[in-house]
Amino acid sequence: LRARLGKRSIVLVGMMGAGKSTVGRRLAARLGLPFVDADNEIEAAAGMTIPEIFATHGEAAFRDGERRVIERLLGNGPQVLATGGGAYMNAETRARIAEAGISVWLKADLDVLLKRVRKRPNRPLLQTPDPEKTLRDLIALRYPVYAEAAITVISRDAPHEAVMEDIIRHLS
Ligand code: S3P
Repeated sequence: LRARLGKRSIVLVGMMGAGKSTVGRRLAARLGLPFVDADNEIEAAAGMTIPEIFATHGEAAFRDGERRVIERLLGNGPQVLATGGGAYMNAETRARIAEAGISVWLKADLDVLLKRVRKRPNRPLLQTPDPEKTLRDLIALRYPVYAEAAITVISRDAPHEAVMEDIIRHLS
C-alpha cells in the first residue's frame, strides 16, 4: 500500500464527528505515515482557534484559509491528512485532492455524529438553537458531494480500530 501510494496522501473527508482525526491518527500509525490534521494547521497558521477565526474573520475567511492550507499540505505526501468537514465542499480543493491524494469519505449516520459532536462542542457551525437540524441540513447538502470521494467507508458506532481496518481493506 505504501508503495502504491507513492507521494500521494490519504485524505479523510466527511462530517464533523465522523472520526476523521481519531481514525486518521490510527491509520497513519499503522501505515508508518505522518498524520496531519488540517484544522490544527489552520489554527497554527492563524495563531487562533477555529471558533476565534469564525468569530473574528467570519466563515468565508476561514474557508479561504482552509483551502490554502490544504493546498500547501497536499505537497507534503505521503501522509494521512484529516480535513475539516467543510473542506471537501470546495471544488478547487476536491480537484487538488483528486490529483495529490486518495480521498476516503468516512460516512456516518446522524445518530453517530450527534453522539460524537456532543462530546466535543467546539464547532462554530453547530452553535445554533437546533444543532440536530443543522446537522441534518448539512448532511443533505454535503453527502452528494462527499460521495465523489474515491472510497467510502462507513464510520460505524464501532471501535476506531475496526473502522481503520475497513479503510485499509478498501485501499488494498
Ligand atoms: C467544519 C468542521 C470542523 C472545522 C470547522 C468547520 C465544517 O472540522 O473545520 O468547525 O464545516 O463541517 P471537523 O470536521 O474536524 O470537526
